[in-house]
Amino acid sequence: MEWSRSTSTCITAAVLLLLPRLCSPAGDKLTRGESLLPGETIVSNGGAFVLGFFAPSDAAPGRQYLGIWYNNITVTASTVVWVANRDAPVIIGEGSGGNSSAAPSLALANDTSSLVLADASGRVVWTANITAAMSSGSATGSTAAVLQNDGNLVILSPNAAKPLWQSFDHPTDTFIPGMKVGLRRRTRDDGVDGWRIVSWKGPGDPSPGSFSYGMDPNTSLQLLLWNGTRIYWRGTPWTGYPTVSRYHPATGTVIYVAVVDGEEEIYTTFSVNEGAPPTRYVVTGAGKFQLLSWNRNASAWTTLESLPGRGCSPYGSCGAYGYCHHTQTAATCRCLDGFEPASRAEWSRGVFSRGCRRSQALAPCGGGGEGDAFLAMPSMKVPDKFVLLGNMTSGDECAAACRRDCACEAYAYASLRSSSAKGDIARCLVWTGELVDTQMIGAFWGVTAETLNLRVPAGFTGKKRGTKTLKILLPVLASVLIVTCSVLVWFCKCRSKGKRRSSESEKKLVPGSVRASSELGEGNPSEDLEFPSIQFSDIVAATDNFSRECMIGRGGFGKVYKGTFLGGRVVAVKRLSKDSEQGIEEFKNEAILISKLQHRNLVRLLGCCTEGAERLLIYEYLANKGLDAILFDSERKSLLDWPTRFGIIKGVARGLLYLHQDSRLTVIHRDLKASNVLLDAEMRPKIADFGMAKIFGENQQKANTKRVVGTFGYIAPEYQTEGVFSVKSDVYSFGILVLEIVSGVRISSTDDIMGSPGLVAYAWKLWKEGNASDLVDASIVESCALDELLLCIHVGLLCVQDDPNGRPLMSSVVSILENGSVSLPAPDQPAYFAERNSKLQGKGGDVETSKNSMTMTVLQGR
Ligand SMILES: *[C@@H]1O[C@H](CO)[C@@H](O)[C@H](O)[C@H]1NC(C)=O
Ligand SMILES: *[C@@H]1O[C@H](CO)[C@@H](O)[C@H](O)[C@H]1NC(C)=O
Ligand SMILES: *[C@@H]1O[C@H](CO)[C@@H](O)[C@H](O)[C@H]1NC(C)=O
Ligand SMILES: *[C@@H]1O[C@H](CO)[C@@H](O)[C@H](O)[C@H]1NC(C)=O
Ligand SMILES: *[C@@H]1O[C@H](CO)[C@@H](O)[C@H](O)[C@H]1NC(C)=O
Ligand SMILES: *[C@@H]1O[C@H](CO)[C@@H](O)[C@H](O)[C@H]1NC(C)=O
Ligand SMILES: *[C@@H]1O[C@H](CO)[C@@H](O)[C@H](O)[C@H]1NC(C)=O
Ligand SMILES: *[C@@H]1O[C@H](CO)[C@@H](O)[C@H](O)[C@H]1NC(C)=O
Repeated sequence: MEWSRSTSTCITAAVLLLLPRLCSPAGDKLTRGESLLPGETIVSNGGAFVLGFFAPSDAAPGRQYLGIWYNNITVTASTVVWVANRDAPVIIGEGSGGNSSAAPSLALANDTSSLVLADASGRVVWTANITAAMSSGSATGSTAAVLQNDGNLVILSPNAAKPLWQSFDHPTDTFIPGMKVGLRRRTRDDGVDGWRIVSWKGPGDPSPGSFSYGMDPNTSLQLLLWNGTRIYWRGTPWTGYPTVSRYHPATGTVIYVAVVDGEEEIYTTFSVNEGAPPTRYVVTGAGKFQLLSWNRNASAWTTLESLPGRGCSPYGSCGAYGYCHHTQTAATCRCLDGFEPASRAEWSRGVFSRGCRRSQALAPCGGGGEGDAFLAMPSMKVPDKFVLLGNMTSGDECAAACRRDCACEAYAYASLRSSSAKGDIARCLVWTGELVDTQMIGAFWGVTAETLNLRVPAGFTGKKRGTKTLKILLPVLASVLIVTCSVLVWFCKCRSKGKRRSSESEKKLVPGSVRASSELGEGNPSEDLEFPSIQFSDIVAATDNFSRECMIGRGGFGKVYKGTFLGGRVVAVKRLSKDSEQGIEEFKNEAILISKLQHRNLVRLLGCCTEGAERLLIYEYLANKGLDAILFDSERKSLLDWPTRFGIIKGVARGLLYLHQDSRLTVIHRDLKASNVLLDAEMRPKIADFGMAKIFGENQQKANTKRVVGTFGYIAPEYQTEGVFSVKSDVYSFGILVLEIVSGVRISSTDDIMGSPGLVAYAWKLWKEGNASDLVDASIVESCALDELLLCIHVGLLCVQDDPNGRPLMSSVVSILENGSVSLPAPDQPAYFAERNSKLQGKGGDVETSKNSMTMTVLQGR
């Protein structure tokens, strides 16, 4: 760590505070009696951020601002994340260098502990106001302003539990990890009632511009970008998810966005994966809300997201009852189902402001509106100007409430079971006015999209068939999408230690020598970590030149071999397909990240190798290989008695919990399935291929359909997209796995199971009839403990519920499995079952096609 200046300089100053001598600050803090002058800085303990005076590159000469910027990111100018005196620059006069008595300065006020910025003449231009309530009794000699390493400037007093003031409560145009955007439900004694990001006027002028980003004060359920007082762009209304994550391959950054809905405040905040480059959201002077990440390779900021996008994404672009149809390449206006353009002529000219009107009038209202029906439009950003109805417990109730109100045009329902602090278990939105600013966003925002249920006349036929086909196709489309994003493109440019002698690299893997894990420091992630690299020639020797005999598995990513090194150490070697195109930097990050995840229920990565086009990963070898090889083998499945199976279920749950929560990162597996659960000699489970989410680059994948489609049955229903994943999609896969382990039946089994169209439907049917214990694999009936069995089936069914919010978190699952549970909610009927069932009774043709295509893809997978 370097201090920006010497600690002993004291200078005479006659500023506002009338102290005889003020000293310069040292390190990361400014204490009472010290003052910060232009040219001096405070550096956070950790070196990430700097506080000091700066002049924006385009600013009028002599104008300076007090701000915080990244310590060592210099593009053309420093990247400023916070400005104190946004609209009141201090002017640096001629003699400012030598005449220190005439310089502006920042100091802590004697009496109130407020931070005070005074200009050269001693006039106060800015203060960090500390309210009387906060400062009473806490202003003492040891009060200090500290710049924390997350970029937050805080005023701390030893007498106060909380900071007296913090810059994170007074954001400017930048939103960095740890900050909040949202609202206080009531103002606290610090006088802060919420957090809003406000743009600069322009590149040279930090004073507040016209664009701002914050939470909608009317509903607290959505985030808005304003141009002045007008809404310019609107985010998707919150559906109750606690977190979502997105992976950006361009800089190898994973963004975790959380919504915190508490008693006192509701806000959104975000974090990034460990080792990720500096990442920030900014509202620009031109009205864009952008996510930027530092590209270390290019020494430049990379724009990862920029909103509003092109075309019709600004607020209300498509008029009333229109919606913006968003695809990867273009965005254009369409009318909601059951509506047509108000003026076809204008519409065809690309003028959408008049929107759409009903193509078929609703029946006259009265008698409770039984005459009308609802038409579902999935994957929508639902319209603005909704009314939130409380006290709802189900989608049916929400629909009934809308039906009762003659003016109600639509409703949308989301379950809040896993997220709400206030006891509401459902979120029911209804619309009684025009439907504005609707968007179809299926391809990108995953769990944040929802189904809009539109009121239509009872006999409405319009596009109904179309949507029905869509519904049937969705599972198929989903699997295709997953395919495109799921080929493992590892490659390992592990510091090519070409000169290292083979005996040396071997030593790392022979028993008793230093293990890979202990070489990977837990400390500073940016440290250049020693990651074991193994010579290709040694691997050739260990696997008998990748002989057929040594091959123990294959998948879309390549083949897996058993290898034995000279010292006798047995490993599994994954030889990756040669056409991967992932960035070296990204790969390195990911490999280091994965090697840091250590848990007894996760397979350990020991090392890797690159030479020429070869990319190999070395894992610990597990004697019993994949769970699928035993569980679904009629000869061998009895090796897994009930206690063993229960142990496997609990072990997988613990491993998944570690990935989701306990590893400090949120890692979403995305491909949990029986063949990715490996068993050691004692039949203890270890999850393999975790962290693949991090390695996916959405763009550069070359799909190998066979492998990925094989996992079709494990994909959560809301998983229609890539780009957004929640821990709840893993929970879904876990639920499927539990049902498989209990029943010994493959989820991809194509036979009707006892007359039910699939394993989930069968389990649900038995559960509903009170015969859940019949699900158990016939080969283990004897060893079976009925209470454990029923508990597992119950948990499995809760995990495969259609609504991600209804699924438990892995922390609950582990606790339920470990301790049992007296009261679990009853599971909802799984969607796949309901859907297929209705199709079976409906149009025969559709059923055949969709069922056949699913079946085929599944068969290819094996
Ligand atoms: C910033 O500083 C860290 C540690 O001092 C260093 O590893 C990193 O390369 C620096 N980044 C830039 C952009 O200079
Ligand atoms: C510079 O300092 C001298 C005393 O050292 C003082 O008389 C003078 O007023 C100062 N200049 C300004 C511009 O304040
Ligand atoms: C500031 O504190 C000093 C002693 O620490 C005291 O002499 C002085 O009067 C105080 N000034 C004000 C304005 O409170
Ligand atoms: C601090 O409080 C004073 C007086 O209440 C007010 O004039 C000033 O604008 C406030 N400063 C800030 C930065 O809010
Ligand atoms: C909040 O509601 C009022 C009254 O309906 C409306 O005028 C205002 O524009 C709304 N504000 C936002 C941010 O939607
Ligand atoms: C923002 O609003 C102003 C004034 O209403 C308008 O002139 C400007 O074009 C708007 N900017 C954008 C990007 O819409
Ligand atoms: C990083 O830089 C190297 C060359 O300096 C280039 O080959 C590589 O593609 C870059 N990676 C990324 C992710 O930009
Ligand atoms: C919710 O329901 C309870 C009892 O069912 C009732 O007492 C309460 O008033 C309801 N609240 C609202 C906001 O409708």
